Amino acid sequence: MSDDDKTPPDDQTPNGEPSGEGAGGDGDGEIPGWGSSDKRRRRVSGPMKKGGDARAAKQMFERVKTARGRKTSSTRWLQRQLNDPYVKKAQMEGYRSRAAYKLLQLDERFKLLRPGMRVVDLGSAPGGWVQVALKAGASEVVGIDLLEIEAIAGATLLQKDFTEEDAPALVKAEMGGAADAVISDLAPWTTGHKSTDHLRIVALAEMAAHFAVETLKPGGFFIAKVFQGGSDGELLNLLKANFEKVRHFKPDASRSESAETFVVAMGFKG
Ligand SMILES: C[S@@+](CC[C@H](N)C(=O)[O-])C[C@H]1O[C@@H](n2cnc3c(N)ncnc32)[C@H](O)[C@@H]1O
Repeated sequence: MSDDDKTPPDDQTPNGEPSGEGAGGDGDGEIPGWGSSDKRRRRVSGPMKKGGDARAAKQMFERVKTARGRKTSSTRWLQRQLNDPYVKKAQMEGYRSRAAYKLLQLDERFKLLRPGMRVVDLGSAPGGWVQVALKAGASEVVGIDLLEIEAIAGATLLQKDFTEEDAPALVKAEMGGAADAVISDLAPWTTGHKSTDHLRIVALAEMAAHFAVETLKPGGFFIAKVFQGGSDGELLNLLKANFEKVRHFKPDASRSESAETFVVAMGFKG
């Protein structure tokens, strides 16, 4: 398979970095006042990568105009980003990613987020969902991603592969107690091979669900990105056995051509 066959998750750049297209306000990719001075981020393992920001977006745009020999999938991705209303909205409203609107729309539909919640965000980079949770009044947010996430005041952000054996324990160690919400936007790079991609995303969603069952307090909720057509049987059985209600929902901000949708499990039985 050629490199050109690989495409990044819906909200990532083709070079593997978080999109950062939501860089707003002061132009450094963070909402003004949501401090780059905050040091609550940790790289647990893995290579350091610079998160996207407005400068990066500008450089990318210049590359669209000038790069020779760039891959067609990258060009398509950039053109789509530059014309995407949610990318523009994120830039204007100070969200780091267009993905923020998916969580906002999930919340609008199911009324999930409340002030004072303890939230775990799996696959957080560049941080749009973290921003949404904090804006909704979460008292604690712990995020984890393979990629480095620029600090966000009020959140603890780990750079780590969530599939590594010690990752769940490391996340738990950062939390002050059981979680009210486990939200997962975990998305592997797609290979272009439909069933392989499906298996990889389902595997991540299953890991996230097992983590939720071990971590949530009674009444808590779980969200995970899955493929359209629904969650696979095993995941669905796990969720139905442990939660009062399980629903699927594809927010408007999720691109219609993307096969992603979200499973929402509410009322953790404990
Ligand atoms: C769609 S993006 C998340 C966007 C994010 N929710 C936001 O609002 O900005 C999916 C993320 O999952 C991360 N990811 C994929 N596999 C992972 C893994 N095994 N461990 C940790 N993060 C992973 C990717 O690095 C990527 O940043």
